[in-house]
Amino acid sequence: MGGDAPPLAEEGLPPEALDRARAVAAELAVLDRRYHGEDAPEVSDDVYDALRRELEELHRRHPVLARLAPLPNAVGAPPRRAFRTARHRLPMRSLDDVFDPAAFRAFDQRVRQRLGRADPVPYIAEPKLDGLALSLTYEEGTLARALTRGDGTTGEDVTANVRRLPTVPGRLHAPAPRLVEVRGEVYITRWDFERLNASMRERGEKTFANPRNAAAGSLRQLDPSVTASRPLSFCAYALGALEGGDDPATEETLLALLGRWGLPVVPEATRLGDVGEALAYHEDLGRRREGLPYEIDGAVFKVDDREAQRRLGETSHAPRWAVAYKFPAHEQTSRVRAIDVQVGRSGALTPVARLDPVELAGAIVRKATLHNFDEVARKDVRVGDTVVVRRAGDVIPEIVAVLPSLRPPEARAVVPPERCPVCGAPVRPRGETRGLYCTGGWHCPAQLRETLRHFVSRSALDVDGLGPRLLDQLVRSGRVRTPADLYRLGAGDLAELERVGPVLAEKLHAALDRSRRTTLERLLYALGIPEVGTVTARLLARRFRGLDALTAAGVEDLAAIPGIGPVVAAAVRDFWADPGNRAVLEELLARGIVAEPPPEEATAEGKGPLAGRRFVFTGRLATFGREEAAARVRDLGGTVGERVGRETDCVVAGADPGTKLDEARRLGIAVLDEEGFRSLLRSHEQRVGND
Ligand code: IVH
Repeated sequence: MGGDAPPLAEEGLPPEALDRARAVAAELAVLDRRYHGEDAPEVSDDVYDALRRELEELHRRHPVLARLAPLPNAVGAPPRRAFRTARHRLPMRSLDDVFDPAAFRAFDQRVRQRLGRADPVPYIAEPKLDGLALSLTYEEGTLARALTRGDGTTGEDVTANVRRLPTVPGRLHAPAPRLVEVRGEVYITRWDFERLNASMRERGEKTFANPRNAAAGSLRQLDPSVTASRPLSFCAYALGALEGGDDPATEETLLALLGRWGLPVVPEATRLGDVGEALAYHEDLGRRREGLPYEIDGAVFKVDDREAQRRLGETSHAPRWAVAYKFPAHEQTSRVRAIDVQVGRSGALTPVARLDPVELAGAIVRKATLHNFDEVARKDVRVGDTVVVRRAGDVIPEIVAVLPSLRPPEARAVVPPERCPVCGAPVRPRGETRGLYCTGGWHCPAQLRETLRHFVSRSALDVDGLGPRLLDQLVRSGRVRTPADLYRLGAGDLAELERVGPVLAEKLHAALDRSRRTTLERLLYALGIPEVGTVTARLLARRFRGLDALTAAGVEDLAAIPGIGPVVAAAVRDFWADPGNRAVLEELLARGIVAEPPPEEATAEGKGPLAGRRFVFTGRLATFGREEAAARVRDLGGTVGERVGRETDCVVAGADPGTKLDEARRLGIAVLDEEGFRSLLRSHEQRVGND
């Protein structure tokens, strides 16, 4: 262990704890400086919060650490010298955070106690936008100055840049006060963020890690014309100094006043009667989070009555009358205990990090994928490292990055294996990405087990009750060597498995028997043809309607199907060219599998993850034909319309979009660009496939 720890054993302080606390405190100080002073913190707020909590926990466990490795003061860092600076008339404070209902109730309790009130205190709730705070000074209704928060007392003068933002009015509508400081957030919508990054990529420039970084980086430009070229938005949510005007009595009237002055006001603001309503607002907003056009990381609750706010006052850091109730983090920090290697259905070797358990987006996470060994090398992940783990939506948790400053000296790099860790067969790189694969085929118990798992899964042949443990036994005992062997098993064979009695054996046997009658698309998916998920399987089944036609199809026939490209077409062709695959199919048919073709003109409309959602396309898509894009939406259960109206849920805009895009914006309808649309399809198509 490094560090210059004096012998503190008598205080019961393990030297690792001191080293760790010092390293985390140093890292927090660096992140603070980046966040407030420079533009691009390398990590998200979630990660910052996680490190802060870790240090606080260390302080709780070893109080002496609060002195030896204190929390850095996080209010801010000195402003960047490149900008002129100026003082805020009233300081710009931060907000205290809470992370769970109990802490939020405790906040409410403190508020009521200080106000000496037993009855509920009404709050205004707003989304906590993930951008950067800005203070606008209007003198006699004219924009005189715009400052970033800086260290809370002194900010950077970004007036010239802010004058170029279309959402910040140069003049307030009358009657404006003699002087007012308007506080709000500069942010960038998801859509604008995607577009901005795409154009930066095109120009070979560095892209932004997240919308917050993009907003901060774009505002704090020395050349105002660069800021003007960036799609920044602004909305107002608070007042600083106010002279020569009536101070609004409540937050609600304050927001109305900001609106009357012609300022864009924070969206979704709602007045809530008590804590219960506040908790419900938070929950509802959390559910809608991914669907909002901008990124948020929580909800802000403010005591509505401004007189009560004054009585509550503030600490040096934050007001006592407001709190940020954050959403469960999408990102966390954890430590890598080991890096295991998993062997998938195709033989792909996937390094998987075993982690100290952490709570992530509401679940306990113990493992995270590293995708492949190139990625392990690129991210330089070592056993012992502190890493950033992310889990968004339903996807598998993954390791985003290493925090190198927290690497202990004994951290150990892993080398890619030369032999399959399960069957010992040699490992070879394969495909465009040169990922590593086990060459054992179905001789490898892991590959065979995963193949069978896929084969019996819900979207495939849907054999009830045949879980991984039973499959593992069937593989290891040598009873099953291909999927077709499943249909040789009698109830007696199944009864010989561990923890399978005669009743269960009968049930499994009956389930296998039932699965013989299936649909062509299920069978195609079940076969595990590379590149063929449920959607492609359906396209193939609809086009060919039978195995004879499909196995005879050439690459051109396959690639002519809307929705199937040359890579998929070649993969399907190659699969049938392999005599081993043909033999398995023959045997399945010989064992009584019957694959029904789809009904004519079947569509998924009304079922599937996009059921009830109406899409409209405008502009040219670069990587899809219109027909194909529409077919993919319909395959997921959505409908496709021609005109944008209130019933439209989403407009997909390609290059040179028409007036439909303007109409969508006017109606506040979600807009996706091509990349966004692709990722929407990806996530749903995967989900359908992974069922
Ligand atoms: S009120 C004294 N309202 O969150 C009140 N802040 O963590 C100060 N933020 O510095 C802020 N959305 O940059 C407020 N609706 C909202 C907000 C909001 C985002 C940011 C703001 C602030 C930070 C504090």
